[in-house]
Amino acid sequence: MPMVRRGNGSLRAPENFRHSEEVSLSVEPSSRRVVTFLSLRREETMNISRRNLMQGAVAGLAAAMGARAAPASLAEAKAPSASITAAAVAPVVSRSLDIINLDLLQEQARLVMTAGAYAFVAGASGAEWTLRENRRAFDDFPILTHRLAGIAASDIDLGIDLLGHRLPYPIIVAPVGAHTMVHPDGEVATVTGTAAAGTLYQSSGASARPLEEIANATLGPKWFQLYFNTDVGVTRSLLERARDAGYSAIIITADAIGPGNNETFIQLGKPFPPGFTFGNHDPRHGGGGDFRSQKIDLTPEDIGFVREVTGLPVIIKGILRAGDADTAIKGGAAAIHVSNHGGRQLDGLPAAISVLREVVQVVDGRVPVIFDSGIRRGIDVFRALALGADAVAIGRPVLFGLAVGGPQGVQSVLEHLRDELSVAMLLAGAKSVKDLSPDYLRT
Ligand code: FNR
Repeated sequence: MPMVRRGNGSLRAPENFRHSEEVSLSVEPSSRRVVTFLSLRREETMNISRRNLMQGAVAGLAAAMGARAAPASLAEAKAPSASITAAAVAPVVSRSLDIINLDLLQEQARLVMTAGAYAFVAGASGAEWTLRENRRAFDDFPILTHRLAGIAASDIDLGIDLLGHRLPYPIIVAPVGAHTMVHPDGEVATVTGTAAAGTLYQSSGASARPLEEIANATLGPKWFQLYFNTDVGVTRSLLERARDAGYSAIIITADAIGPGNNETFIQLGKPFPPGFTFGNHDPRHGGGGDFRSQKIDLTPEDIGFVREVTGLPVIIKGILRAGDADTAIKGGAAAIHVSNHGGRQLDGLPAAISVLREVVQVVDGRVPVIFDSGIRRGIDVFRALALGADAVAIGRPVLFGLAVGGPQGVQSVLEHLRDELSVAMLLAGAKSVKDLSPDYLRT
């Protein structure tokens, strides 16, 4: 079943559809049973027009049946209504996806997500120049193949070792907050899909579900991303809980030191789902403090603090300058994560891929380098690895997979990129990801 099917499925939402109702339906496609729930929650402050709800319902049903929404619906979805003040329509689907490419997946996700949720995930800061540049700049690195290399498909080796974990392929999930924006089970669904795909999950400090629930939902490898709190007791507690829950490394996100300026999301009134909380701080789950009270004056000493409290390796995320990578390593960082936060913090930053090589050169093999921001294809993974990254992390596409396919959708996204990477390796004449170098690129 193609994931983005071009059909003429025209579906209508029930006449008596209300936002306070919960609709469940089962559809029986040719061979596989797909159960879809459209969960709509009541919220006093909700101000969603009936028309938008209908659109969400139609899109959800269409997606569930693999049908294409009418072009008019797509046009409407691309022009989110400012009247939406709460994200309340969440199609909950669990199915594997036959992904053609991740841009088409994003198009389908737009149809099943509320305008607010879509703006939150897909959007970026300011005029979104960095967001666009993150994609464009991959084209600055054309792939230069090796021929007569004597490599068969069965020779391709994607496996890596990363901070003590053996991973079957070098693609991991980036820390992304607030997954209940797109799926009622939030991060529990995402980590389930990640584990099924056999790779590593980075749990955001801004998760909707508490870190313990996320940890309990997986036997796979997992790291915890910390937002330092101004209250050192809160920070210490978060770190101890993460360690006790079995997270094997701590990520310090060094570039999220202020609110991102996602203009569309702000225009929509920041429509978080009704009752949304940052799970790690929720007293009902043993949390405390205020998520928004973040300590932003980070220094290399903070790396030492995290190591002292947890005894775990520390990854510094958000590095774009070679000198900053050096400072972080000298401060005790066990890995460097090159990223511009997917363009979500400061617009005008260079594409992350454009600075990767400089950072790798200064790191000089002392610690692993992880890369994210803009990866949508296997050839992007290939190029990042050829420029010296040891692994890449994926942000938005994972959420789009979650929106369209739930846990299995997440699994499909990761496996799709893995398979595309494998094909890129074969066609480029590269046997092992460890062999990749700038020699495979025309730089
Ligand atoms: C993020 N990102 C992020 N990073 C982080 O360290 N902590 C966080 O809580 C979040 N939250 C977050 C929410 C959403 C909706 C998105 C899309 C992203 C940034 C993320 O880890 C990663 O750096 C980018 O998403 C990578 O870019 P791509 O793959 O989305 O292009």
